[in-house]
Amino acid sequence: MKERIKKLLDDISSLKAANKEELEALRIKYLSKKGEISLLFNDFRNVANEQKREVGQLLNQLKDAAQERINELKAAVDSSSDKQETLDLTRTPDPIELGTRHPLSIVKNEIVDIFSRIGFSIAEGPEVEDDWHVFSALNFPPEHPARDMQDTFFITRDPDVLLRTHTSSVQSRVMLSQKPPIRVLCPGRVYRNEAISYRAHCFFHQIEGLYIDKNVSFADLRQALLYFAKEMFGEDTKIRLRPSYFPFTEPSAEMDISCDLCGGKGCAFCKGTGWVEILGCGMVDPNVLESCGIDSKVYTGYAFGLGVERITNLKFKVKDLRMFSENDVRFLDQFKSAY
Ligand code: PHE
Repeated sequence: MKERIKKLLDDISSLKAANKEELEALRIKYLSKKGEISLLFNDFRNVANEQKREVGQLLNQLKDAAQERINELKAAVDSSSDKQETLDLTRTPDPIELGTRHPLSIVKNEIVDIFSRIGFSIAEGPEVEDDWHVFSALNFPPEHPARDMQDTFFITRDPDVLLRTHTSSVQSRVMLSQKPPIRVLCPGRVYRNEAISYRAHCFFHQIEGLYIDKNVSFADLRQALLYFAKEMFGEDTKIRLRPSYFPFTEPSAEMDISCDLCGGKGCAFCKGTGWVEILGCGMVDPNVLESCGIDSKVYTGYAFGLGVERITNLKFKVKDLRMFSENDVRFLDQFKSAY
């Protein structure tokens, strides 16, 4: 019996298992109820009394050694199977969540796309501007309220450095640096000193269009805007131009489109009128052309300016402007399918 135990002790110290199945076979062979060690325990009662003490110790030693060896092998098998999993190059990867464009970018890109199809290219200018490009060159009288601290964020006074209140400032820069014909679209962020609410914010986004050439007429302006409205809101959309006032255009107008929600019948959204206002426009005032070095006797032009937030409100029925700058992923996620 002692010989048998010693042989098993030897065997056990050199056991090997390459995987879980082999390990389980070893466990059954040595440690299960009918395993070799249990059989020895069964034989124990046949051991002569004077040897019982010694053989009993050896048997317990054997059992512990077997258990310990199996535990070691199990740890080795587990860690090597972990490694295999991380190295499985054929595994299908976990899906990666795609981000989404910001709704304002989606709408801006769509507007730019629509106008680029009729020959407009992009022009950009600085957000921190001087008084001349934002106001003086655009025929704002010195006492105009837009020049007031109440409406404009000034960075310094005298010389006046300010945050542009409209992208029309890019108009003046383009007219100074390019010769007609000019056909540009100026998208960008603008700033106004307004109390923040669901319908106003201290910054928002505009797209300004400017077209200058010989014989540009109000009819051209109207046609370009009608094309835009139909492309943006659908073939059945109607437009309406109402007389208005801007210092840099004469005549000036505001454009409404037939209400997208009620189809022009009148609803709460269009306040029962069937129309919603979407942009300001007009023929570039000759004073503006002259102050930017363009001969107003040879050239005429039109300009229009629209608010990207306004169009996005209409397009996606977002009621609260503040949503656009809160970066709430639950809000932003909803525009996944929009582009
Ligand atoms: N700049 C004007 C605004 O901010 C919009 C506009 C642009 C109007 C061009 C007419 C022509 O409200």
